[in-house]
Amino acid sequence: MVQECIEGLNIKPDGIYVDGTFGGGGHSGKILEHLTTGRLIGIDKDDTALAVGRERYGNCNNLTLVKNDFKNIADILDELGIDQIDGVLLDLGVSSFQLDTDYRGFSYRFDAKLDMRMDTTSSFSAYDVVNSYSESELSNVIFRYGEEPFAKKIAREIVEARKVKPIETTGELVKIIEKVVFKKKGSNPCTKTFQAIRIEVNSELDRLDTAINTMIDRLRQGGRIAIITFHSLEDRIVKNVFKLRSTDCICDKSLPVCICGHKKEINILTRKPIVASAEEQKINTRSTCAKLRIAEKL
Ligand SMILES: C[S@@+](CC[C@H](N)C(=O)[O-])C[C@H]1O[C@@H](n2cnc3c(N)ncnc32)[C@H](O)[C@@H]1O
Repeated sequence: MVQECIEGLNIKPDGIYVDGTFGGGGHSGKILEHLTTGRLIGIDKDDTALAVGRERYGNCNNLTLVKNDFKNIADILDELGIDQIDGVLLDLGVSSFQLDTDYRGFSYRFDAKLDMRMDTTSSFSAYDVVNSYSESELSNVIFRYGEEPFAKKIAREIVEARKVKPIETTGELVKIIEKVVFKKKGSNPCTKTFQAIRIEVNSELDRLDTAINTMIDRLRQGGRIAIITFHSLEDRIVKNVFKLRSTDCICDKSLPVCICGHKKEINILTRKPIVASAEEQKINTRSTCAKLRIAEKL
């Protein structure tokens, strides 16, 4: 959905833009093509993504790459001496590069050490979640972040297995999940549990709403925010923040007059989220779950 994002951001050649999830730099590259004197701040917490970005765009004066969590957007902009921005893009979740790198342990397709850290300098990995969480903590994570109906059973099997020895690899985890969740045509039994553990390891949903609110605060009048999500949990957060920021009064409906004084600050430009075209879905299967929401600052 690169084209849709670029159109949605309505890029000004001299504007200041933020790509909070730089990844392989695909979206950033397209933003850069539209800039003349403008500036792009590319943020990622994965050193490998940034190293690839430096190699790809190293001689581009319009690009500043920052290793950080986009949730620290206020500090990042303050440190760069930037007050307001013209646009911000978030393409949430894990990158294809991360998923396809066998030793990163993001995917059930490869047997690797249980890892799943986007920031490989972090001391907390999938190994810690799987081996140190209690049965009820594991069950909650798998149910909440994976929406996995067999969460309780999977958590119980994990706890049973680690009585014998720690669970060290994705392969061992796959075998445990496959004892409980049966294979169905068109879906892998491990998808939901792996997603849940990854979200927990990288605190993907924590403070996401606050970060989006801060980004909206820092947008100039007419500035745009575009966010791509890959599952309903993320999409719900984006939808709710956009809804609240695009509403005037948020008082209880039973009150005769407004006492909250809440003012609408954005216009939602995508009443229904944009989804990938049939063509893109054919080429890139991940895009089948993608939803793009765009809003403009008033
Ligand atoms: C879906 S990929 C982005 C792909 C990118 N738009 C492109 O065109 O190549 C998501 C990237 O964002 C990074 N990421 C996810 N959450 C992050 C966060 N909270 N702070 C910084 N980077 C994050 C991941 O490490 C990953 O590289």
